[in-house]
Amino acid sequence: MGSGIFITGTDTGVGKTFFACALVELLKQAGYKVGVMKPAETGCDQSDGKLMPQDALALKEASGCEIPLEKICPYQLREPLAPSVAAEREGLIIDIDRLMSVYNEISSTHDITVVEGAGGLLVPLLPSYTFADLARVLKLPILVVAANRLGAINHLLLTLEQAACRGLHVLGYVLNQMENELSVAAETNREALSMLTGVPCAGELPYFEASRLDRVDLIEERLDFRILQPLLRRANT
Ligand SMILES: Nc1ncnc2c1ncn2[C@@H]1O[C@H](COP(=O)(O)OP(=O)(O)OP(=O)(O)O)[C@@H](O)[C@H]1O
Ligand SMILES: [Mg+2]
Repeated sequence: MGSGIFITGTDTGVGKTFFACALVELLKQAGYKVGVMKPAETGCDQSDGKLMPQDALALKEASGCEIPLEKICPYQLREPLAPSVAAEREGLIIDIDRLMSVYNEISSTHDITVVEGAGGLLVPLLPSYTFADLARVLKLPILVVAANRLGAINHLLLTLEQAACRGLHVLGYVLNQMENELSVAAETNREALSMLTGVPCAGELPYFEASRLDRVDLIEERLDFRILQPLLRRANT
């Protein structure tokens, strides 16, 4: 088995896919065979009668892996809702054993597997089963992405506290600058957080113009690789 990491966020739309894809590209460049998984994706548009899970497609492209899309994302759901709710409205029940066996299959053939959640840590996959439960059964350490803006301190501390309560191993968090203009909150969040939690900040990602292609350089410069050491140590090489 290779090693794995679960990328969660403080909310939906905070940059999980953006960060996960950059991390995947970086690991790939460093010589690792990288697997990816998005256990459930909701809000999938249809094109030519096929659902298009955009996050799963982006992760697949970033990794260059040959895992079929149906395995990268076993649950592709139409409505932009929490997976448990979207599944129920399509008459489906998400099978956690299936997710575990797909993850084990991907992990056994890749050095490192990067798994992206949907929304935040307590988003449900089943009416009373969350992504935090999934990360725990998959024995994955987590990394939390937060949008670096006003509110990030509270959202991050709530997420980190819940992760600790649920026995998850948190590697660190990333502060992601989603807007072009840097607010005072964005400039001061990192230091304020360092006084409030012992969980390390893995880095601050700047705003990234969509036209730029050097996503790997961006995170290579900003990420504290010491935080990823437990992941890299357990990877197949
Ligand atoms: N640092 C950044 N600079 C510029 N744009 C960014 C940055 N981070 C994220 N974005 C953009 O913000 C949008 C939301 O990011 P992303 O899709 O990665 O969020 P997410 O947390 O994965 O959302 P979801 O909960 O839907 O999976 C995307 O269009 C993404 O390209
Ligand atoms: Mg995403």
